[in-house]
Amino acid sequence: MNEPLTPEPVSLEPATLLLDGNQYRLPVVEGSEGERGIDIAQLRADTGHITLDPGYGNTGSCTSAITFIDGDEGILRYRGIPIEQFVDSPTFIEVAWLLIFGHLPSETEYHSFSEDLTRFANIDEGMKHQFEGFPRSAPPMAILSAMINALSCYHPELHELEDEHELRHAAARLISKIRTIAAYAFRHSRGLPYIYPDPSLRYVPNLLHMMFSLPYRQYVCPNLVRKAMNLILILHADHEQNCSTSTVRMVGSSGANLFASCAAGVCALWGPLHGGANVAVLNMLEQIHRGNITPEEYVRLAKDKDSKVRLMGFGPRVYKNFDPRAQMLQKVAEELVPQLSGDDPLLEIARRLEEIALSDPYFVERKLYPNVDFYSGILLRGIGIPTNMFTVIFAMGRLPGWIGHWWEQSQMPGGRIARPRQIYTGNGLTDYLPMERRP
Ligand code: CMC
Repeated sequence: MNEPLTPEPVSLEPATLLLDGNQYRLPVVEGSEGERGIDIAQLRADTGHITLDPGYGNTGSCTSAITFIDGDEGILRYRGIPIEQFVDSPTFIEVAWLLIFGHLPSETEYHSFSEDLTRFANIDEGMKHQFEGFPRSAPPMAILSAMINALSCYHPELHELEDEHELRHAAARLISKIRTIAAYAFRHSRGLPYIYPDPSLRYVPNLLHMMFSLPYRQYVCPNLVRKAMNLILILHADHEQNCSTSTVRMVGSSGANLFASCAAGVCALWGPLHGGANVAVLNMLEQIHRGNITPEEYVRLAKDKDSKVRLMGFGPRVYKNFDPRAQMLQKVAEELVPQLSGDDPLLEIARRLEEIALSDPYFVERKLYPNVDFYSGILLRGIGIPTNMFTVIFAMGRLPGWIGHWWEQSQMPGGRIARPRQIYTGNGLTDYLPMERRP
């Protein structure tokens, strides 16, 4: 018999809540790494009260067996495996399988999944015409989201997934086609002809081939670039209940299909406080490089609440210590950028910003550290990826996480539509005023 997809948490001694003179017992649960939560699922029914937690900083929206983060210790694990162990050996496709299906793929599973990815790489010719409907200046994230949603029109048979076999078909299509869509979004923005996927190429070289090959000159992917891109995709592959993943789960909770749910995830990722931060970081570094502002001045502005400036690439909520992904990416950027594109002055500026921030009481007291977006842009730039494609690459990396979470949720016994409540603070009962009587 298969193990349950998401094991139940352990029950501990209940908590006691005193409210309006009444005493309530609230179940307390513990996850497999000791994380504890008060289960308030019955709170409103029993007490008439709800909890208020804007931004959900204290709210566990689900149990999940995919990714573990200990932000105080700077720990990130996929299905129990520390992120640091993914530096050299595995490919992004192995990690994608691990996240979605819960275990590392056997050799047979890996090869047959890779074959599926090759088989499904093309998009329907009809979809290509849809690219033409977008202006040249369209942000690639807008195209990506629209096209992932459009995929659902071409695969109605995958709207409802009955079992892991069907999930595998849907996942392979999405993971393969997102690459083609991403490359075509880039080609469209440059007015270049679309290049078909090459079945002889692996995941990353095929992406770069579709982005950079010309009809008369094939792009050849250096090994160094393949490894760096592979690592970037792996490090972005999941981060438990972040904004885009929570969005995918929320949309999926209504019964929306995988394509529609992931398209919504792309939209959530786009914002500069989430995946769009990699673009914002690069813009910040370039601004400093152009001499518009010094690193010291930038940090001063980031601390000033009136300025609305933030030090981009600093402070994911869940880490109160170094983000291990940032440390890994910095190391790789330091090694590879000089080999890929020579000395990049932005790397020096990033180091300087980090140094200033990490010795400033504002950032120290708030435990704000560089996050995954702080160094990823510099590395992507070294590889030759244009800035407007950075968040698209993030989305490609995050896709297996989204798929894993969408499936995990859809298999959850007793799953309910996600529907938070609110504390209403608007007008009391108010009468409608006809137009002529309005002030
Ligand atoms: N620069 C300056 N101050 C900051 C920053 C920052 N980057 N991040 C947080 N703070 C301050 C914030 O002003 C607040 O100060 P105070 O306590 O005086 O009001 C305090 O730190 C706590 O911040 P918060 O806004 O409550 O933190 P949050 O958990 O709600 O926000 C965040 C998390 C990632 C949106 C935020 O840190 C931020 O805006 N960072 C810059 C954007 C960024 O790099 N985003 C990528 C996130 S990681 C990758 C991903 O998941 O996409």
